[in-house]
Amino acid sequence: MYLPQLLKKSAKGEKLVALTCYDASFARLMVRCGVDILLVGDSLGMTIQGHATTLPVTLEQMTYHTEAVARGAEGGALILTDLPFGSYQQAPEQAFAAAARLLAAGANMVKLEGGSIMAATVAFLSQRGVPVCGHLGLLPQSVNQTGYAAQGRDGAGATRLLRDAEDLMGAGVKLMVLESIPSVLAEEVTQRLAVPTIGIGAGPYCNGQVLVLQDMLGLTPKPPRFARDFMAGALSLEEAVLSYARAVRMGEFPGPEHCV
Ligand code: KIV
Repeated sequence: MYLPQLLKKSAKGEKLVALTCYDASFARLMVRCGVDILLVGDSLGMTIQGHATTLPVTLEQMTYHTEAVARGAEGGALILTDLPFGSYQQAPEQAFAAAARLLAAGANMVKLEGGSIMAATVAFLSQRGVPVCGHLGLLPQSVNQTGYAAQGRDGAGATRLLRDAEDLMGAGVKLMVLESIPSVLAEEVTQRLAVPTIGIGAGPYCNGQVLVLQDMLGLTPKPPRFARDFMAGALSLEEAVLSYARAVRMGEFPGPEHCV
């Protein structure tokens, strides 16, 4: 699915349903269940490779998983791929070269982490045919600076995040992932931005929701507080994914117990 179709859905008021996806079998299943966005997340460093962080994931690995997901999805969902750590922070030209490889592998859009500091890179990419999704709040690639703590909880943090969001939007992002921030802040960002927000641990007011697949299938030993196990009580993987998609669309997930 291309970006204009996704944005049309969101403009009609439909909640966008996203899940991380790393292979062709799950891509096929998610398309059957009506998932809108398959995020080839660098969380695969943890879920697939068993690392403690996303930092060791390479561009080659992201390319490989994007190709697999694209083959399974057959155009039935938007494929959003993370630019891995070290592949885009140095210069806009470096980011373009990495993004070009991911688009050639089948991604429809790339995601990068960081605020105002990334605005020039976002502008460079979006002026050259690369749709970009921003990622604010908890930034897993900055774990060495912040740990996995929720962000934007005090006045200064919230003000900085709002400025980051506006700078990224001005630079051309077309979607914004908000991770582990208070719901009221996510609500304010969502109201201020003219592009859809996709929340993970950011409360119910975002325009869509994303979860890490293994968290929502109950496979993560210590899942984050904002996740829900949709496999509990489900008779099949398909039923679990369908029930997640339904819960997001009906506004039943996330509930207050999933907010930071
Ligand atoms: O890599 C990933 O799974 C992500 C989500 C946490 C949004 O970026």
